Amino acid sequence: MSYYLNTTDEYYLHDKDSLNWELTVCNALQPEKSPCRKVLQTDSPFGCQLFYFLNDLFDFTGLKNILEVGGGFGYLMRDFLTLAPHLRVTMLDISPYLLEKQKSCLADRNVVFLKRDILSMKISELQHYDLAILNENLGDFPTLVAQSPEGQSDNFPTNHYLDKLTYFQQKYHLTLPPKENINIGALEVLDNLCLAGFRYIYLSEHSCEATLPPSLKPYIHFASTITPERISLKKHDEYTIKFSHLQQLAQAHNYKVIRGQFIDFLPLNCSDRVRTALRLSTPFSDEQEIIQQFVYDLYKYEYLVLIKGGE
Ligand SMILES: C[S@@+](CC[C@H](N)C(=O)[O-])C[C@H]1O[C@@H](n2cnc3c(N)ncnc32)[C@H](O)[C@@H]1O
Repeated sequence: MSYYLNTTDEYYLHDKDSLNWELTVCNALQPEKSPCRKVLQTDSPFGCQLFYFLNDLFDFTGLKNILEVGGGFGYLMRDFLTLAPHLRVTMLDISPYLLEKQKSCLADRNVVFLKRDILSMKISELQHYDLAILNENLGDFPTLVAQSPEGQSDNFPTNHYLDKLTYFQQKYHLTLPPKENINIGALEVLDNLCLAGFRYIYLSEHSCEATLPPSLKPYIHFASTITPERISLKKHDEYTIKFSHLQQLAQAHNYKVIRGQFIDFLPLNCSDRVRTALRLSTPFSDEQEIIQQFVYDLYKYEYLVLIKGGE
């Protein structure tokens, strides 16, 4: 068994269309008239709902410096700054195109913009922040994809990633079976954030370990594959995240871990409209199809909130 390295950096560096077509949950809740907002108990954008959820776990009034990595169009941070204007924010993104979008979304706010790959950041450059936000982007970071020795891809991982593999196994006792794909980039980024001493870290992404409540199993189908699975998107592939590995790594760094699914802070209003959409094997309208995908995502996305020293 050997690995090839899946990456998305070339796509985000050069594709001017990046994210216009990819509907994240954050973007889906942006338009005031979004059909996705109507199926939730609270009709407000993603950033507001996440803010109130996090603010119950730790008090934002005690925070100063926030780093958001891969902020897409900047909507999440715009909501945070509306609710907590005292925050000093750094938006770090690899995509020049999306960084421009963030600049216009966050104009006249207390924000610094940094065009960098998070994997190129030294630990010393990450040390003065209180909170890190990484929403719906861990799957973009490099993945070691298992292939048989006669596999098709010759995009072999560099020694850097092979050394990291040994490091994670030895230092954090992660079990990394040879046939499994490994979220090596997500592990490396989280390790660096923990080593830099962030007090709070929020991460979210499509999970390969998410589960459904029994009542929804007849309507929504996803297998817990346990190994990170490929999601084929326009001109690039992403991989779902094995959150138990990230959890284990954070606990080894003495962080308290709160783990859950988007549905925890985006609760559904189980109206007839939602029930009808979910029951249909073939939706009749665009809105029903959107609702089906959105409800799927509310369960398929997992998050971690990490609190240093379990404050
Ligand atoms: C799927 S989008 C998510 C956007 C946003 N957080 C949201 O929830 O809508 C991924 C984001 O991560 C950024 N990104 C991907 N790889 C990155 C890297 N290595 N370093 C910094 N940013 C990265 C992309 O440019 C983009 O802004």
